[in-house]
Amino acid sequence: MTPRVVHSSLHGRACRGKKGAMKSVAASTILGIGHYVPSKVVTNDDLAKLMSTSDEWIQQRTGIKERRYIEHSGIGASDLALPAVKMALEHAGLASEKDVDAIVFATLSPDHNFPGSGCFLGHKLGLPGVPALDVRNQCSGFLYGLSIADAWVRGGVYRHVLLVGAEVHSTGIELADRGRDVAVLFGDGAGAAIIGPATDPDQGLRSIKLHADGSGAKDLWLEAPASAYVPRLTKEMMDEGKHFPAMNGKQVFRWATEKMPEVSRAVLEEAKISAGDIDLFVPHQANLRINQLVCQKLGIPESKAVANIEKYGNTTAATIPLGLSEAWREGRCRRGSNVLMAAFGSGYTWGAAVLKL
Ligand code: UT7
Repeated sequence: MTPRVVHSSLHGRACRGKKGAMKSVAASTILGIGHYVPSKVVTNDDLAKLMSTSDEWIQQRTGIKERRYIEHSGIGASDLALPAVKMALEHAGLASEKDVDAIVFATLSPDHNFPGSGCFLGHKLGLPGVPALDVRNQCSGFLYGLSIADAWVRGGVYRHVLLVGAEVHSTGIELADRGRDVAVLFGDGAGAAIIGPATDPDQGLRSIKLHADGSGAKDLWLEAPASAYVPRLTKEMMDEGKHFPAMNGKQVFRWATEKMPEVSRAVLEEAKISAGDIDLFVPHQANLRINQLVCQKLGIPESKAVANIEKYGNTTAATIPLGLSEAWREGRCRRGSNVLMAAFGSGYTWGAAVLKL
């Protein structure tokens, strides 16, 4: 990480000095955060009416009690993001959407195949001309996006980056026996953060590390439609359920419980912070058992870890901002708190970050 010297003369869309040259910033931080979940609650018992599963199986294996689904057709990831963005802007003390200089949108369930959900969101926010980048890194998407936002802010490219993680899973899972292993896990939701220059030299992102290993790509994937196939989607493929996500759950579980502690230790070491100094741990919410094991391996008490999977299930790219937003509002962290974030998911992709709020 670069030395922590904070430049106080930032102004304009990008961080520019007096002669208009880009001006770098010592550190970026989360200026504000927000979240949103749709109102429709779907319990384990509701799912048991659609497939052979039970509240007992789901709770024992995953910790999930219920999740949220969009109320009706026509609500995309960018729609779920909107209220979360408003909350994040207010939290950051920014006057309006016009203060957003760039959008990074992490999702595996974009509104449409293309263009990216960031473009839809920018239009809904009334931000013509503001760049919008979609990140396709599944459960690690928010951390990948954070790394990009941090580089833009520190490099003086953009001052306020709107970083979103939002997903609509309910329209893409198979709510029947064949899809039950995946279907019970996922829910809809959104989180948003405003990433900008840290004003206190002691504040900001201390370390972030990202990884990927495509050898596990097919352990959690959605096979079709696929540009590799002619045509991309057929009735036969649909009959075989190739347009629904498929997962080798045991394998993903093994990797997650190994890689999340490993990358967390690496960022703690780089940030020169011990696990004992962490005030709040925000792990990706894929399975309560995974996070209990990760806490155990890192020596972080579970009381310091966000665990909202019982209410929302797995919302992939949204879990970390959703968890941090709730925890901040519950008073579990404040300015000056040391926060560790970690994720593992499809790709495989994984990562972790340490930040002093
Ligand atoms: O965020 C993305 C990353 N994803 C993850 O991190 C997920 C990681 N994996 C997991 O969390 C776990 O592997 C699961 C929760 C998905 C599954 O738990 P498991 O202990 O690995 O169960 P399993 O897949 O070995 O299945 C055990 C049994 C099987 O039946 P048999 O073969 O023992 O007769 C499954 O067919 O449970 C059955 N099963 C179900 N039963 C009731 C699978 N899904 C269900 C279900 N309800 N929904």
